[in-house]
Amino acid sequence: MRNKLIAGNWKMQGSLAGNPVLLNSVAAGAATLPTVTLAVMVPFTYLVQTQSRLAGSACAWGAQDVSEEAAGAFTGEISVAMLQEMGCRYVIVGHSERRARHGETDAQVAAKAHAAVEGALTPIICLGETLAQREAGETLAVVHRQLDAVLQRVGVHRMAQTVLAYEPVWAIGTGKSATAEQVQEVHAALRSRVSNADWVVGAGLQILYGGSVKPSNALELMRLPDVDGALVGGASLVADDFLDIGRAAATA
Ligand code: 13P
Repeated sequence: MRNKLIAGNWKMQGSLAGNPVLLNSVAAGAATLPTVTLAVMVPFTYLVQTQSRLAGSACAWGAQDVSEEAAGAFTGEISVAMLQEMGCRYVIVGHSERRARHGETDAQVAAKAHAAVEGALTPIICLGETLAQREAGETLAVVHRQLDAVLQRVGVHRMAQTVLAYEPVWAIGTGKSATAEQVQEVHAALRSRVSNADWVVGAGLQILYGGSVKPSNALELMRLPDVDGALVGGASLVADDFLDIGRAAATA
């Protein structure tokens, strides 16, 4: 039986003055949802504040990217060890916004996932196709290619210490979620790819869906057999919406 994880990706949003209200509400809500894990992925500059607000609460936290390097002359980068110092449990790697804007390759994303696992952080590894790729019938080929890079680098046994997030690029921030059928098809394909390498790891792997998840579509998505939670962008900035999605996960 896989537990559900509802992770908020704040992206480049928030403020020192405004965050406490949201963090306190999410912490209070997490206490009422013992069967679901809630987590917030905040900008690096808010990790100190997030740690001090959420320490001891039922809500976990993490960052939105990490370096694949351990330490050294890597200007502007943040290491796994630094995130550990901030009490992070999770880190997002390979978000499509970073793949597109920063040219992150499958190999680099896999290296980041590997570094996170080595440092006992749980990477939330994002995969997903563009609209052009979907329309060309390439969806499964694309997500398999992205997954295979991680499988090769991390090794199937240590995939048990990772989380996958299927985020079709065309569904992110558009208000238009993938349909239940589209989501289930890709999640089942990802799980069976991992199961083919190791059945136990595949069966236990948490696979999140991301892309315009909101209270109105959360229950349908969370009820899908291979969906183990959500990676939530916009709706994670509104405490009531984020917690409603958490409640949908608890109900499903
Ligand atoms: P939205 O929920 O705003 O579509 O963002 C999804 C996402 O990219 C989460 O990582």
